[in-house]
Amino acid sequence: MAKFARLGDRIIGRIERARTLDHASHGLGEAVAIPFRALGGPGKRVRTALHGTSYGHSIHPALVTVPLGSWTASVLLDVADGVAGGEENRGFATAADLTIGIGCLGAAGAIVTGLVDWDKTHGEPRRLGVVHAAANTTALTLFLSSLILRRRGRRRGAKAVSALAFAAMFAGGYLGGHLAHRRNVGADHADRNPAPRNFVSVLDAAELEEGKPRLVEVEGVRVALVRHHGRIHALGDRCSHFGGPLSEGWVFRGGLVCPWHGSRYCLHSGRPLDGPATAVQPTFEVRVSDGMVEVRRPETRRDGALARDTACTAEPPSGIGDCRPKADEVLVGHHMLIRGLFDRIAATMPNDPHRLELLDELAGEMDMHEMIEDEIFYPRVRHVTDSIPIAGAEHQQLADQLAILLTLDPSTSDFDEHLTALRSALEHHAGSEEREMFPTAQRLGDAVLRDLGARLVERLEELRQSRLQKLVRLGRQVLLERGQGRIGRAMQETPHGASRGTSPR
Ligand code: FES
Ligand SMILES: [Fe+2]
Ligand SMILES: [Fe+2]
Repeated sequence: MAKFARLGDRIIGRIERARTLDHASHGLGEAVAIPFRALGGPGKRVRTALHGTSYGHSIHPALVTVPLGSWTASVLLDVADGVAGGEENRGFATAADLTIGIGCLGAAGAIVTGLVDWDKTHGEPRRLGVVHAAANTTALTLFLSSLILRRRGRRRGAKAVSALAFAAMFAGGYLGGHLAHRRNVGADHADRNPAPRNFVSVLDAAELEEGKPRLVEVEGVRVALVRHHGRIHALGDRCSHFGGPLSEGWVFRGGLVCPWHGSRYCLHSGRPLDGPATAVQPTFEVRVSDGMVEVRRPETRRDGALARDTACTAEPPSGIGDCRPKADEVLVGHHMLIRGLFDRIAATMPNDPHRLELLDELAGEMDMHEMIEDEIFYPRVRHVTDSIPIAGAEHQQLADQLAILLTLDPSTSDFDEHLTALRSALEHHAGSEEREMFPTAQRLGDAVLRDLGARLVERLEELRQSRLQKLVRLGRQVLLERGQGRIGRAMQETPHGASRGTSPR
């Protein structure tokens, strides 16, 4: 048994270190996310429901019991059928067929909820999750094949296929257990330390700006302070989903958003409003005394694009210094370009058609920026920094927010609210790359960074010219059309809008 456990640990260790799985996991993650992104806001609500956020518990582990129990029963019934003499005792065979069918139905639900949960993980658990999903999908496919063989009367072969399917299910379950119990996927990551029991002064209230979370530490507990509509709130800083830093998040619709995977917690109760989190975030009692913010645990715990002007692809002149920009300079330039687009959108009137053009441009630049980092920069710097898995998760988070923004009417306050949230997410992500990742990347040396920089510039230009990108852009314009129709109508109705023409690009 100990040998089996050691072998299991060795295999799992290899899977967790296998960087080659990152490519497959990126593709699978996009395939999972795209249907939800295409639905915009409703897609986000469906995803939150599949996480189990409103039930306060993840749905996946409950659904998994259906295929595990049914399929195990079917294999036992197959054995009983063999012992009882086959043809003369149809009862066992019929029961085996029925339990396989029930297991397949349950497995379909378990796979969907599992994939949605998996898509909001990063790092080693994400790699292991790909193999866990592959094993379970194999089990489902084999059990379905077994069912088909049974219908055709080939029971002996069907039983053999069921045995193989059971082995795949066992392997999937083994990996699932490791993910939950060793890697704490699905566990509560919030800090539930009961300190401080008495009010402790943590910050000068005047230093806390409206809508800008601040991190404070009190008796070893990290607390995120937020002033919203003048009132001060305090939540545990470690996100219950995966431990993300809430103090680096932003406020959106009365909730504090985690920058890693987008969970949004009610500022008053800590209840998750958007998944993937399912657990209530710890909150603190807050008071202001002598101008200082004081916090304590509640008595009763309620925990229940490259800037175009920086593009320089020239080969370095021999003998003199390399004039090409370094990768981090290229990326910072592109960050500036994206920030500038945000500023320009914010400066347009809500019903200005130019707003849509700028939005389209912003979406294109953000898409391309994430693509060049994922394809070229991140794989090269992952040896010198630990922040790549989180940065990858944040890219997904940005793509999700952008997808929702594109479905909204740009003349509405709803749009403005989502635009501000997207900007906050972008500021957080680009800011942490500039403060932490890019300085660390300097360890790769000038020559490597300049080579990388040239590849980034080249790829960016390629993407700008690419037919596929143009198709994506066309699709985006179709998405935006709805908003344009509304704006057109609004302009016809508004004398102010009627005088406004389409701005040149
Ligand atoms: S760590 Fe995943 S949402 Fe916060
Ligand atoms: Fe990035
Ligand atoms: Fe970036």
